[in-house]
Amino acid sequence: MHPEPVSMLGLGAMGTALAGAFLRAGHPTTVWNRTPARAHDLISDGAIAVTTPVEAVAASRLAVICLLDAPAVGAVLDTIGDGLRASTIVNLTSSTPEEARALSARVIASGARYLDGKIMVPTSLVGTDGGFFLYSGDSAVFAEHEVTLRSLGGDANLLGDDPGQSALYDLGMLGIFFNGMASFLHAAALVGADGVPARTFLPYAERILAVLRTSLPGLAIGVDTGKHPGAEDNLDMELAALDHIVRTSEARHIDTTVPAVPRGLAKAAIDAGHGRDSFSRVIDLLRQSGR
Ligand SMILES: NC(=O)c1ccc[n+]([C@@H]2O[C@H](COP(=O)([O-])OP(=O)(O)OC[C@H]3O[C@@H](n4cnc5c(N)ncnc54)[C@H](OP(=O)(O)O)[C@@H]3O)[C@@H](O)[C@H]2O)c1
Repeated sequence: MHPEPVSMLGLGAMGTALAGAFLRAGHPTTVWNRTPARAHDLISDGAIAVTTPVEAVAASRLAVICLLDAPAVGAVLDTIGDGLRASTIVNLTSSTPEEARALSARVIASGARYLDGKIMVPTSLVGTDGGFFLYSGDSAVFAEHEVTLRSLGGDANLLGDDPGQSALYDLGMLGIFFNGMASFLHAAALVGADGVPARTFLPYAERILAVLRTSLPGLAIGVDTGKHPGAEDNLDMELAALDHIVRTSEARHIDTTVPAVPRGLAKAAIDAGHGRDSFSRVIDLLRQSGR
């Protein structure tokens, strides 16, 4: 079977990588970008450039969008208008779940089909076995175009029918990522204050990440069951460790914002009478503070 034609709307750093992956996989690829000059290299690689979004969605049954944000996608959809009818849109633009749901409803109301997707890797991994994508929305679109979507990276996950779900997972994962980066930098400042270079500390940071990984299943069970037995570890003990981190940071004039977060959560759970529970008890506080 020949690779199906695909249109790529948006040729920023990521859109260019996506279009390049389609081309390398042999898909006839039509490209559009607000600033046309960004298509030059792709044209040399065999892409066909068009000057309007309407032409782009008309050129292929499958149109993939990757722009800066959801308002940019909305602005481009505005220019397509009725031209959207009967097309299939896969939107790989980062967004909130609410924005993804609103874009899905809007596209469907125009008579088109919508699959939301989130890109979980940098441009360098697009089109490789390390490519990792989350999809949600119209599962028939995923099934029909799965081979094409896998040209972007082998790890393509369909989460469900809710178009907001890929954004939800994306943001949950990114939260872990950014908190992890901030934690590593805090640790680097802490050990660095006593003369330890970050690169010397790095293997030890990697070891504790492996330990964290083994702790996550227990946390997940606690969250899902509402049971937080503290036989193996408990918040009273953990608060003492968190106090050590904060006090050692203060003694070295290191900002305590990062360790103050888990410390504050542990302390609040203890103050609520849960000192003998495991750390997963903190979920109660996190849920309440959002109300
Ligand atoms: N880069 C990454 O490593 C990475 C990783 C994961 C996810 N993502 C996501 O991928 C998406 C694109 O990121 P990127 O790195 O490609 O960003 P980028 O290099 O800044 O490109 C932004 C793209 O959006 C277009 N755009 C912005 N506002 C527009 C508007 N109002 N109307 C039409 N086009 C508009 C730009 O067009 P012009 O060229 O005309 O300015 C350009 O094509 C984002 O949602 C980002 O979060 C990126």
